Amino acid sequence: MSKYEEKTILITGASSGIGKAIAFDFAKKNVKKIIMVARSKSKLDQVYEELKNICEAEVYSCDISIKESVSKMKNEIEKKDKIDVLINNAGFGIFGSVKDQTIEDIESVMATNYFGMIYCIKNFLPSMMKNRSGHIINIASLAASFGIPMMAPYCASKYAMLGFSESLYYELKGTGVKVTVISPIAVKTNFFNNQSFNNKFVHKFGYVLDPRKVSKAVINSINSPRFEITVPFFVRGAVWLKHTIPFIINPIIDKSFKKYMP
Ligand SMILES: NC(=O)c1ccc[n+]([C@@H]2O[C@H](COP(=O)([O-])OP(=O)(O)OC[C@H]3O[C@@H](n4cnc5c(N)ncnc54)[C@H](OP(=O)(O)O)[C@@H]3O)[C@@H](O)[C@H]2O)c1
Repeated sequence: MSKYEEKTILITGASSGIGKAIAFDFAKKNVKKIIMVARSKSKLDQVYEELKNICEAEVYSCDISIKESVSKMKNEIEKKDKIDVLINNAGFGIFGSVKDQTIEDIESVMATNYFGMIYCIKNFLPSMMKNRSGHIINIASLAASFGIPMMAPYCASKYAMLGFSESLYYELKGTGVKVTVISPIAVKTNFFNNQSFNNKFVHKFGYVLDPRKVSKAVINSINSPRFEITVPFFVRGAVWLKHTIPFIINPIIDKSFKKYMP
């Protein structure tokens, strides 16, 4: 029996992009069940129609930035299922300077990307700890290690996710519950369709990943002891360089991203 069989996987943000790719890749691994979460029920239903032929699946419409909604979802799910793998993937970014973004814009990014992750962890961790088994996988970004101009709230939410996850990783050692962070570079998804990007950002990237590259890293993380996995793996070198020779790397970051500023 593979390590995947008999596992129930919950994926937030599974109606599109990286989350959808993760759902399909796990489905091919013969997992017990995949529970897909997002706000739009109609988008989830479309994915469900494709996935149900490969694997047992279920969808939950839930806005993870609302604490009470996550708690309600947990109560419904735990009536019949035990979550073995929680994948905190739902998230979005708003492109714009700190001067131009409203406080509400900034709060909304934090509410989904950071607090949404916390609400899911706080709801599903107790049963994992009780069973002395589980895996929490948080989809961060390379923006958890680089402050990108015009993406301050997004970078802050991912730095926060990385820091929280690292503390939790140490706290949970020996409990049977594992924590992994996956940090990809830019990925070709609906992420850049947010109107704030105004089509001016993604097309200028030279190298954009296919979401399946990220889902492959997620699948492999099930059997990996590593805490943070960058995708592709070699960008780990860029993070190391930034911390080691910031006086060379920071001007390069500055120059590369400043051109996107109005
Ligand atoms: N694309 C990239 O370049 C890139 C790079 C590194 C990391 N990431 C991270 O990867 C994750 C997935 O993004 P993606 O690129 O796959 O984007 P995407 O295609 O836009 O997918 C985002 C998913 O999150 C869901 N979602 C958004 N807000 C939600 C909320 N409040 N509650 C529940 N679900 C919510 C969306 O569905 P609904 O709108 O229906 O809720 C959708 O299913 C994000 O955390 C993102 O930060 C992306």
